[in-house]
Amino acid sequence: ASIEFGLDAPFSVEYHDSVDSTNLRARELAAEGADDVAVVADEQTGGRGRLERAWSAPSGGVWVSILVRPQRPPAHVPVFTLAAAVAVTRVCREVGVDASIKWPNDVLVETGERSERGGLKLVGILTEMEGEADRVSWLVAGIGVNANVDAAELPEGATSLREQTGGDVDRRVFVQRLLEEFDELRENPDEVLPAWRAHSATLGQRVRVETSGGVVEGTAVDVEFPGALVVDTSEGDVRVHAGDCEHLRPV
Ligand code: BTN
Repeated sequence: ASIEFGLDAPFSVEYHDSVDSTNLRARELAAEGADDVAVVADEQTGGRGRLERAWSAPSGGVWVSILVRPQRPPAHVPVFTLAAAVAVTRVCREVGVDASIKWPNDVLVETGERSERGGLKLVGILTEMEGEADRVSWLVAGIGVNANVDAAELPEGATSLREQTGGDVDRRVFVQRLLEEFDELRENPDEVLPAWRAHSATLGQRVRVETSGGVVEGTAVDVEFPGALVVDTSEGDVRVHAGDCEHLRPV
């Protein structure tokens, strides 16, 4: 399987039929000094998820890693993860799937059931970066969309665009739109949090967050720059940072 890309994408695109991990490849390109590149693969043989987990990435998905060099301090990196979530959620909605964002960086289709996750996972995002104390050197936003993937090939608790719509998306168009949306948001960082709130599955929910420092339970009331979740608990508002979140579930 092979997809070709238009030349009008705001990033140069490196396409692979098969690669270990688009994030790893993007990191290699970063080490070589590249900038504004998107690595896209039909299949990943060693897809990587958050918290050192493996990420299943069979042929037919949209597996993409965007390499950028923002002139920002490392503390601002979570905004780029939120921007990636907003961008991919918008494009999933364009193709007719009612996706929403579960803080910090899952995109899911809500089922209305009180499941562990509160919905079926459609997209995962893994952001990696390297930087000095005051400036990011490079940032890779890795976005994995279960696109044209059969239900039988999905991990438990996951869904795909194919399963949701009964049809297949044009992955070239999907990636093109994703890159356009991400580009627009990085140029307009003030739009990220309002757009994130508008697409959130988490705000307004009672949640239980496991963090390295203990469990936080209450109502998720807001997301604050650069990406902290504000939880209204019996002891007042507590801010949870994405990097500290080991597990969040609705209660
Ligand atoms: C997660 O939810 O745990 C994050 C999953 C991130 C998967 C994407 S697929 C494209 C990119 N390359 C990888 O190896 N991982 C990310």
